[in-house]
Formats: sequence, C-alpha cells, structure tokens
Amino acid sequence: MTEFPVPAGLERAYQLIQTELNHVTDLLGNTLRHYYPEIDAMVRYSFLLGGKRLRPVLLLLVGKATGGVTQEHIRAAAALEMIHTASLVHDDILDGATFRRHLATINAEWDPKSAVLVGDLLLAQAMLVITPCNDINVYRLLSHACFTTCEGELLQTTTRSRFDMDLAQYRAIIAGKTAALLECACRLGAHLSGAESAIIEEYALFGQRLGMSFQIIDDILDLVGNEESTGKTLGTDIINHKPTLPLIHYLSHCGAGERTDLLAILASDTISADQLAAIRTLLKESGSIAAARAEADQLLTEAVQQLDKSVPVATQEQKASRLALEEIAQFVQKRNH
Ligand code: FPP
Ligand code: MG
Repeated sequence: MTEFPVPAGLERAYQLIQTELNHVTDLLGNTLRHYYPEIDAMVRYSFLLGGKRLRPVLLLLVGKATGGVTQEHIRAAAALEMIHTASLVHDDILDGATFRRHLATINAEWDPKSAVLVGDLLLAQAMLVITPCNDINVYRLLSHACFTTCEGELLQTTTRSRFDMDLAQYRAIIAGKTAALLECACRLGAHLSGAESAIIEEYALFGQRLGMSFQIIDDILDLVGNEESTGKTLGTDIINHKPTLPLIHYLSHCGAGERTDLLAILASDTISADQLAAIRTLLKESGSIAAARAEADQLLTEAVQQLDKSVPVATQEQKASRLALEEIAQFVQKRNH
C-alpha cells in the first residue's frame, strides 16, 4: 500500500509507532488486493485520498500509552482507516468535490456510481478485517462510530441552508461526522490494551475533543484556506449551503442589514468567486474566523487537560506515547492543510 506523508512536527510521534504503522500499511495492502483489475485500481486509488493516517496513529499511540500494541490493535487500526476512507469517498460525492489531496476524487476520476460502491466495499472489508480479533466489542465500537458518523452527516444534510442554526446543532453535526471516528480510535486503542473503563473514557474524551477541533479548523480552512496547500476543493461548504461555525458566529453577531444581505447571497444557487471572496473578507474582518479559532483552541486545551487528568503512566514508552498524543493536539491546532 502506498506510503503516506508524515506531517511536519510529528516525526517523533510517528517514529514511536513506525513498526506497528508499517504492519497496518501491509495489512491494508494485502486486504485491499482485488482479482478484478478495474476494482483493484479504484480501491487502491482511494487510499491515496486518505492522508496522514491520523486515526490508526491515535489508536496505536493510545494502545502504547495504555499497555502495548497487539495484532488486534493493528487490525482495528486498518479497519478504522478503511472506514475513514469510505467516508471521504462518499463525502466527495455528496459535496461534488473534484479533488482531494491534490488528486481527482473517485467521483471525478471514475463516476459517482462507482464511488458509492467503492465506499460500500471498503466498509464491508473493514468489518471483515477485524473478524480474527474475535471480539464483539470491536464490532460494536466500530459500528457505533459508523452509525454516529452517518447520523452527523445526515443531520448536516437535513439542516442545509439553516444559517440560523444554533451552536448546539452545529456541535452535534461535527461531533457525529468527524469526532466519532477519532473518539473511536482512542477508545479502541485503550479497550484492546485491556484498560479499565475509566481510563478508556479518558482517552475517548481526548479523541472526541480533538475531533471537534479538527472539524472546526477544517471548516475555517474551507472558507479562508488555500487550495494549493490543502490540496482539496475549498469553498464547498458555502456552495453546498452548509452552515459552519464562522458563518453561524457572524450571522448571530452582525446587524440586521448585513444579515439580510449575506443570507440573500447564501440562498443563491450560483455564488460567484467575487461573492465568495467578499464573504471571506467579511468573516475575517468581523472577527468571526478568530472566534471559531478560539473555540477550536479551547477544545484542544480540554483535550490536553484530559490527558493530564488521566492516570499516571508507568514506563518510558507509555510516557513518550502520551507526549506524542499532546504533539498531535498541537499539530491539529497549527495545521493549515
Ligand atoms: C468530511 O467533511 C466528511 C466527513 C468528516 C464524514 C463524511 C461521512 C459520510 C459521507 C457518511 C458516510 C459514513 C461512513 C462511515 C461511510 P467535510 O466535507 O466538511 O470535509 P472535507 O473538506 O475534507 O471534504
Ligand atoms: Mg467534503
């Protein structure tokens, strides 16, 4: 399976679990080999879209921090990456996105119908790859995370154009569509090490807060990021009438006139590049981008505090793994792609 880029600043964190991560990569490569060349090409290609393997990395680091990485951790990490990739393949169809990680999306390179089926196939294979774990809890946790991810995405679909949505609704959407898988990664890492339930919950909460923050930053980048550095289609949230935190913040703080003007633009089916640029400026100058950043920062502070609160670790390796999780939180805070 194709190599992935190690994010700058996380070299030490990735080094700690390099061997185990290589096993995950090998397992992905061996599992996703297809007899039919057309399917083989699509499935292999889909894994170029995934990126930095954040979910397997979290699962493995939490595994190390709570006792040690086993074959079961490797399998669960591979399953989680397959589920994540499936969700991106489906998401790009829903968003009409044409490129991700500097590559054409499956819906653009092939067609949306094939992309639906590639996503489904990856989900089915995720369930197959964990069968040797013989642990019903792994199925339960992964199925629950898939369910919650779909629920978040459906909640987003059913609230499209609802720019008057309150923060609780927005938080419920991102808790589902993004945080559920990151939370699951941490939960599985601790569960498979045989950690006590209180410890499992501590790490799960770390993953949840990290995931919420990750999506807020993603939403900020969709508005004011750079396509060159993110490598994906940006501006899709506005075009798809998705209310995200900077917009919700702006609309709940601006005057009635500005609100009417902006809502009229957002309601339109054709938003021009100039209008998008004007919205970007408005959100930056009004402080709404900064307010969204502040919320993301707060969530990351909570994530790290959660780690500090959790039980003391015993060995040097456990300490290093805990530190690496903090470095991941810092990376999420600084990321611009
Ligand atoms: C990216 O959001 C998308 C997600 C975080 C989840 C997508 C989930 C589904 C399509 C439901 C199907 C679920 C499973 C488990 C198969 P985004 O569009 O805001 O971010 P982007 O800029 O990376 O596209
Ligand atoms: Mg998308």
